[in-house]
Amino acid sequence: VNTVNTSMFHYWKYFAKGVEYTVLISIVSTFFGVIIGVVLALMRFSKQKWLRGLAISYTEFIRGTPLMVQVLFVYFGIGVVVNIPALISGMISVSLNSGAYVAEIIRGGINSVAKGQTEAAASLGLSKGDLMRFVILPQAFKNIWPALGNEFISLIKESSIVSIIGVTDLIYQLNIVRADTYRGVMPIFVAMLLYFIMTFALTRVLNHFEGKMKHAG
Ligand code: ARG
Repeated sequence: VNTVNTSMFHYWKYFAKGVEYTVLISIVSTFFGVIIGVVLALMRFSKQKWLRGLAISYTEFIRGTPLMVQVLFVYFGIGVVVNIPALISGMISVSLNSGAYVAEIIRGGINSVAKGQTEAAASLGLSKGDLMRFVILPQAFKNIWPALGNEFISLIKESSIVSIIGVTDLIYQLNIVRADTYRGVMPIFVAMLLYFIMTFALTRVLNHFEGKMKHAG
């Protein structure tokens, strides 16, 4: 007789692998997202009109199309030329997506302090570079850091979409366990709990650091 072990604990390795991939994709994509975001933000503050236009177009287009379509487009688009692993392709699309969101975070952080302080600093005779370096950016970072943490938390959830190209993240694993155990709901619930544990823990860590930063003045 063929018996199936339908205990979720029996499948912990599947879930563990899923969590591992989900965290890996989120870390890598936040990292490159920040790099792309900084470049886009610099472009937005550039004197060159075409650079500003390019950055705005990119940000608007990325934010105006679903991450799901971007994931499919990158995977099958690159696939026309060369076959790359789904994991790499997933990381590329989530990074490209995150970059647009990070650019807005940075721009918002800078704009939120720049308004009154620019004039004040200018009246003190500060150069534009010094104004950015010593007045705007130190204050802007207080808004930017927590928002970047939130972006990382968002990616934990949003990266679930890469399962459609076959990346073995938590969603992908959950479906394997469903098929294996014939249990339709429990694996979904377990994955949901695991996502919540990840985001909740991260939120607490972030709040902790945010509190510390406030006390630092
Ligand atoms: N779910 C939204 C979409 O499909 C947002 C995706 C990405 N969000 C982010 N913070 N990078 O467009």
